[in-house]
Amino acid sequence: MKKIVGIGILGLIMQFCSTTKKEEPERKEYPIIETMGFYQRFSHKLWLAGKNENWELAKFYVHELEEVTEELVRSNVIDEDKNLSNLAEAMFQDKVEKMEDAVRLKDQVIFREYYDLLISGCNLCHQATNHPYLKMKVPEDNDKFNQNFE
Ligand code: HEC
Repeated sequence: MKKIVGIGILGLIMQFCSTTKKEEPERKEYPIIETMGFYQRFSHKLWLAGKNENWELAKFYVHELEEVTEELVRSNVIDEDKNLSNLAEAMFQDKVEKMEDAVRLKDQVIFREYYDLLISGCNLCHQATNHPYLKMKVPEDNDKFNQNFE
């Protein structure tokens, strides 16, 4: 009996080791470019929803931004020697939370103010990670992207 229990425990330990080993390469392959695609799309749509005072839709997109950010923060993502998870937590997560408040208040003026702040958060991180040429902006009417290409 003791032996069986012993083997069982050993099996569990081995399983644990193999799963922790497996996680490491996964972490390196975190799809940061997809995360950024989500960020761009959701932040642009959030702007359009807020501008039209469609607060229900704005709430949906701010929630998506929040989820993408939480996932990034908890995944310990290192890219070109920069800890993107720490940066997202330090310079971006609070701005998403503020945005959530603005949407809850259904206030156009606060929404615009916090949207500026949100976009500055995107750009701060692009600068901090040596991508200063990735300049996000508040979209103008008919802009296809909320990005400055000049
Ligand atoms: C934690 C830091 C960080 C934050 C916050 C961040 N970015 Fe990025 N972003 C990056 C990095 C790093 C890259 C380059 C990724 C690569 O090299 O593959 C990038 C790349 C991009 C790109 C280029 C890829 C493409 O699809 O054109 C866009 C656009 C972009 N980010 C948009 C945003 C937007 C919009 C926000 C805010 C809502 C944002 N990012 C917030 C770090 C960040």
